[in-house]
Parts: sequence; C-alpha cells; structure tokens
Amino acid sequence: MKLKVITSNPGKVAEFQKAFADMGIEMEHLRLPYDEVQTSELEEVVEKGMAEIRAKGVRDFIIDDSGMFVNALKGFPGVYSAYGQKTIGNDGILKLMEGVEDRSAVFKCCIGCDIDGRTIIVTGTCDGYIMREARGSEGFGYDPIFSPDGKRTFAEIGIEEKNTMSHRGNAIKLLRDALVKVDNH
Ligand code: IMP
Repeated sequence: MKLKVITSNPGKVAEFQKAFADMGIEMEHLRLPYDEVQTSELEEVVEKGMAEIRAKGVRDFIIDDSGMFVNALKGFPGVYSAYGQKTIGNDGILKLMEGVEDRSAVFKCCIGCDIDGRTIIVTGTCDGYIMREARGSEGFGYDPIFSPDGKRTFAEIGIEEKNTMSHRGNAIKLLRDALVKVDNH
C-alpha cells in the first residue's frame, strides 16, 4: 500500500514514514498546496483540505493539521500555529509567556486519510508545558519550547520517542487501528 503525504513539511513525512514502516505502508512525499480555511477547528481545516485535494483528482493520501494551544494565551496560537511560527516564532511565544505561571498547553493533531475511496479522520492530543527557554536541536516548529513532562522538550527527546507520546503519534495510533480494519474488509 502506498499513501501520499501531502505537506510542505519534510519533518512530518519523516514521522509518518517511521510510524508506518512496520505495516508495509509506503509514504511518499507530495508537495501540493491546498487552502487552510480560517476556522477554530482543526477537523474542519482537514475536511475542507481533503475535498479540495480530491477535486484535483488525487486519491490515496494523508494530510495533517496540527496546532499548539497555550492555555494562558486562551488557546493561541492554536489553529494559527503555522502563522505564529512564521511571524513571532518560538522566541515570540516565550516573550508572551514571560512572567506567566500557568505554562500548560496542548498539542493537537488531526489527520485525514483518503484510502480506497474511504475517508478516515482522527485526532490525537498531547498535554504538556511551554518551557522558559528553547532547548534541543531535533524535530521542527515548536519542538524546542514544548515539553510533554515539563522536563525535556520534544527537540531533546528525538523523533522515535516523540512518536510514542506526541499528538501526531497518538493520532497515528488511531489511524493505524482504522487502517487495519480497512485492510480486513
Ligand atoms: P501544520 O499542521 O503544518 O499547519 O502545523 C502548524 C504549525 O505547528 C507549524 O508551524 C508547525 O511547525 C507546528 N507544528 C506542527 N506539528 C508540530 C510538532 O510536532 N512539533 C512542533 N511544532 C509542530
């Protein structure tokens, strides 16, 4: 089985390839821009994105929309996480969090999969904390400032261990379960 991972982010492709290698599912990177609608729900972004990609005639693919929701910032950057990363970046988030005691945040990942004419949509989450300084060199995006346990950041943990606990890792587990069911029918 082969699925196209439609994203501009090679870091995500690497995570999907690692996570599905043992299932014999080949993940192929495809760069195909699609609109990310402005809405407060990741699931809606994914549903609309899938419809647009299908309208272009593409089948058997996965897309993923993720966001980091910081409680003290009322959920910001959330669905605007890509914009937040491009504009204020990790330093900007750390600045906004200066002097803030409540460091709690949640990462969410919604994956949409088109396979054999079916649609599978799953969402995984990972609770954690915004650190007081950026640390680590692995991963991408907010990894250097997000920590699942308040001790090590995702950028210090590394991709393999990150996959066992991350929002995308948890969404991937749900997708694996769903794909096994598709395979058995
Ligand atoms: P999107 O899902 O590509 O729209 O991601 C939104 C933003 O969140 C991007 O700036 C990503 O870099 C960031 N992001 C998504 N997943 C992760 C992750 O696993 N770690 C750190 N940042 C992430």
